[in-house]
Amino acid sequence: MTFKPAKWPRDLRSRQWFAGTSKDAIYHRGWMKNQGLPADMFDGRPVIGILNTWSELTPCNAHLRDLAEKVKYGIYEAGGFPVEVPVFSASESAFRPTAMMFRNLAAMAVEEAMRGQPMDGCVLLVGCDKTTPSLLMAAASTDLPSIVVTGGPMLNGYFRNERVGSGTHLWKFSEAVKAGEMTADEFVEAEASMSRSPGSCNTMGTASTMASMAEALGMALSGNAAIPAVDSRRRVMAHMTGRRIVQMVKDDLKPSDVMTKQAFENAIRTNGAIGGSTNAVIHLLAVAGRVGIDLTLDDWDRCGRDVPTIVNLMPSGKYLMEEFFYAGGLPVVLKRLGEAGLLHKDALTVSGETMWDQVKDVRNWNEDVILPTDKALTSSGGVAVLKGNLAPAGAVLKPSAATPSLMVHRGRAVVFEDIDDYKARIEDEALDIDETSVMVLKNCGPKGYPGMAEVGNMGLPPKVLRKGITDMVRISDARMSGTAYGTVVLHTSPEAAAGGPLAVVRDGDMIELDVPNRRLHLDISDEELAARLADWAPQIPAPDGGYAWLHHAHVQGADTGADLDFLNGCRGNPVGKESH
Ligand code: FES
Repeated sequence: MTFKPAKWPRDLRSRQWFAGTSKDAIYHRGWMKNQGLPADMFDGRPVIGILNTWSELTPCNAHLRDLAEKVKYGIYEAGGFPVEVPVFSASESAFRPTAMMFRNLAAMAVEEAMRGQPMDGCVLLVGCDKTTPSLLMAAASTDLPSIVVTGGPMLNGYFRNERVGSGTHLWKFSEAVKAGEMTADEFVEAEASMSRSPGSCNTMGTASTMASMAEALGMALSGNAAIPAVDSRRRVMAHMTGRRIVQMVKDDLKPSDVMTKQAFENAIRTNGAIGGSTNAVIHLLAVAGRVGIDLTLDDWDRCGRDVPTIVNLMPSGKYLMEEFFYAGGLPVVLKRLGEAGLLHKDALTVSGETMWDQVKDVRNWNEDVILPTDKALTSSGGVAVLKGNLAPAGAVLKPSAATPSLMVHRGRAVVFEDIDDYKARIEDEALDIDETSVMVLKNCGPKGYPGMAEVGNMGLPPKVLRKGITDMVRISDARMSGTAYGTVVLHTSPEAAAGGPLAVVRDGDMIELDVPNRRLHLDISDEELAARLADWAPQIPAPDGGYAWLHHAHVQGADTGADLDFLNGCRGNPVGKESH
């Protein structure tokens, strides 16, 4: 840790809007004063943007206006000037074709909102899946002092006295209906039991994973990730975050001071320990690209390989975020990583303390939720990065959510050209498929879907489900919800729509999956593969305008984070010209 706080007081960037007696200064201050602001709010105190992803169409974030009020208390107390700013909210549950297509648009919009307006520091008020990475990407690109506070997970769901996890049970119940084990009416009855309170998904899905990644990166106060949305301590966390950002601005503690290579390695290992979402791979690669950190898929495999999954939460395990919080939450996991020599202890955090200082004294209050290492769900919990002639740039698989007996498998490909083809044929009793087959889904990557939908955990055919089979090897260029599970190879790169080898797999080809050796192989000769690729032509027409065109023209592969190519790197926060 080499950070040296800046001297205070000093002039901040907001002074270029609000200081002096020029026409512009009076214009900027005068219009703000229509909100009833006293003159001394413009006396040089830090102006803090509370970037709020509140939206009633992002139900996981629908309570964030209330939390923003608590953030404001903290900012006022610490001598700052809070301004709440609504920003693009990429709702996981509502956006079509997929929220992922809009992560980069949100990041671009938020970046410009930060840079173009009088803010000295920002509180990133996030929760639902894409809202966290999009705002982290924006903060990385502007490098303005920033701190994350998440909305927190929903309370546990219960249906007929059993825990019901967000998303995880949606997939389970959906399969049960297809297998004839549950009626459609029971499925609808269960619907209301899944989402009992404000907050994000209560499993270790992508939202909880990204909240954990923000904390493990050092970008949120310690303990932030797991506090339930409706717990009074979530409001305290928001309040304390407001206090802290003011001091961060005074110290000039920036994202680039916190999000170092070491911080990313801490986050990758944490993801293995919590059994986190594969979506974290794409999001952290994209955030790292914005900071200018050289992070690759190989770092994911190298750092995650020997990390045991010790958090017993769905979809890999049995409990939900509420129990994780009661057990001690992420600080306990970080302490365990530190004790195992798997944590860069001196990584700096937004609190100004090192990661180790924050977690070294915490205790585990429930060893059935945060497991001892010898009872880990899997000893190799990190995301496995597979390579081979079917994925020259890499593909990923989450071992903790997969079936051990399928980790080495050779099977006959049953190919679906796109998601519509899959939906049209998967329930056909005449489909030539059994549990030994390998289901292959094409054209669901960043360009193909477009936006890389969470369809990689495609449901099994009913005739296989009726045999009591619950898992098969599935391969695609899609993503998978963090709440989902199965022996699912994802993010296959290059994607089919960009002419990757996945595009030329045919029904009946043999495919070899060998997770221990990190291999994904299409068993045809090099000459045959080259000939098929030479014959390939794009199947997906480029959109003819709008953001969809921009996305298609500029989105990069999943193996580097699927950011837009012109958004890589940190552009800083220079103050523009006067506006009038
Ligand atoms: Fe919003 Fe899961 S859908 S957090």
